[in-house]
Amino acid sequence: MDIFEHIMKEHREVEAMLERLSQGYDEEVFNKLRLSLAAHMKAEEESLYPAMNDQEREMVQHATEEHRGIDKMLMEIGRSSKEGDSFIESIEDLTSLINDHVIDEEEQMFPRAKQMFDRSRIDQLSAKFDEVDERITQKAT
Ligand SMILES: [Fe+2]
Ligand SMILES: [Fe+2]
Repeated sequence: MDIFEHIMKEHREVEAMLERLSQGYDEEVFNKLRLSLAAHMKAEEESLYPAMNDQEREMVQHATEEHRGIDKMLMEIGRSSKEGDSFIESIEDLTSLINDHVIDEEEQMFPRAKQMFDRSRIDQLSAKFDEVDERITQKAT
């Protein structure tokens, strides 16, 4: 699995967790969502994003700002009441923020990255993504 396949697999997993949370709060799913997103965003920020930064600075900056917005929203949801409608509404807001970000990555960033990098560079970035993603996920479990 290369970095693009791995990122897309995690996007689909995040979408499935958000779908479950849109039915109501579940502690285990919510904690797993927070951890998965933290590891995913950090791994992107230590592999693909810096590799693209020189040539696509604006794209990378915009994506990084969206990550911070997602972090912030997760923290706020974590601190707020998990009862009833307000939790579900917050999950809906988070879902639309994440969906926009995922579309940017998959439809703009990936095609651009595939133009920029050769196979060996992609392999290198894939290894870096995996390493960061696993390190953060394991530290927390
Ligand atoms: Fe991202
Ligand atoms: Fe992503």
